Amino acid sequence: MSSNLPVNAARIAEDIDALARLTEPGRPWTRRVFSPLFLEGRAYIEARMRAAGLETRIDAAGNLIGCRVAGGEARAVLMLGSHSDTVPDGGRFDGIAGVVAALEVARSLAERGVALAHDLEVVDFLAEEVSPFGVSCIGSRGMTAQMPETWLTRRNESGALGDALVSVGGDPAVVLRLSPPKIAAFLELHIEQGPVLERQGRDIGLVTGIVGITRFEILVEGRPDHAGTTPMDARADALVAASDLVLKIRDEALRLSRKPSHFAATVGEFVMAPNAANVVPGRVRLLVDARAERRPDMEAFATWLDQAAKNVATAHGAAISPPARVSDSEPIACDPHLFAVLENAAKSAGMTTLPLVSGAGHDAAWIARVAPAAMIFVPSRDGRSHAPDEWTDNDAIARGAAVLFEAVLALDAEPEMTKT
Ligand code: GLV
Ligand code: MN
Ligand code: MN
Repeated sequence: MSSNLPVNAARIAEDIDALARLTEPGRPWTRRVFSPLFLEGRAYIEARMRAAGLETRIDAAGNLIGCRVAGGEARAVLMLGSHSDTVPDGGRFDGIAGVVAALEVARSLAERGVALAHDLEVVDFLAEEVSPFGVSCIGSRGMTAQMPETWLTRRNESGALGDALVSVGGDPAVVLRLSPPKIAAFLELHIEQGPVLERQGRDIGLVTGIVGITRFEILVEGRPDHAGTTPMDARADALVAASDLVLKIRDEALRLSRKPSHFAATVGEFVMAPNAANVVPGRVRLLVDARAERRPDMEAFATWLDQAAKNVATAHGAAISPPARVSDSEPIACDPHLFAVLENAAKSAGMTTLPLVSGAGHDAAWIARVAPAAMIFVPSRDGRSHAPDEWTDNDAIARGAAVLFEAVLALDAEPEMTKT
């Protein structure tokens, strides 16, 4: 099937394999943002962009952009992209597939001598995954003037986020003053990261919307005591209290997930002190990552969580801080017109499709707040992602890239798209 596609599947495989080789040894596939390996990956992508005839630049938000300049009067751009950073121990395809597919669209257009009326930009967004500064989608938020001011001074053991931005070619002095670019349409290809397309034997997921993500920080204060001498009925064990809360969060998320709309909640970060075998745990910090397709579900969960924290505190004699929202984004709907263009491109090529909501966050969610944006998914083997076993067949990515290619041609030819 690949040979009939307007894109070259072998070139896609070559780029994905080359990026996969840039991993921390023994930790496939780890190329975390701001690391030397991340910069090596970027150098590779930039070289491939240039070889495809794209003009490259890094914007103030640290995004790597390859532009295929149409010439003529300035128009809103057609933008394609995703991210090349990975989570620790995962991410051979997460983000990378979308960057490489976008690059392949540009290459195929050049190879076929197609002249577009719009500039086409291929973007590798900075830090889509949660960065070592605890925040994500730095590039897509920065590009669209949605980066909170406080972020640049966030610190970790190696310094401030503003300095890290400089290290990848961004400009902290400018990023907070950016205006959103004029984007006629943004399209992102991504692996599904879930099992639905594979189970239903479909080629392409047409993303209807992307969940809102809210992260709550909760501090549980118990009382550190001697683990051998303190009677079992006279303890305020912070870990026992936190564990009770974790189980209650799981049960509530399970209940909310049985509704037709998507909901999930995970305690993914959990730190306890003093973390010593012979001391009753005194303190726990946990971070709840909750995701909802419908905002009212998130608000209901937040109200429930407040009360659950109080109840657990009382039951265990611990003090639990009111859950604090450390980040909060609303769900977004993908642009209905772009959805239809992608659906038409897939169906005209004989591919099977399925509308899906994204339970994962994506750069497209930030672009969608300032411009028309839509996404397609390609199947993930066994639905696995954010794990070393993450896999998507190269032909599936090539089929997705072909859909992007046809969608770009269709959008470029639309009369209303050229008026901007
Ligand atoms: C992005 O990988 C997310 O956390 O959904
Ligand atoms: Mn991703
Ligand atoms: Mn990811």
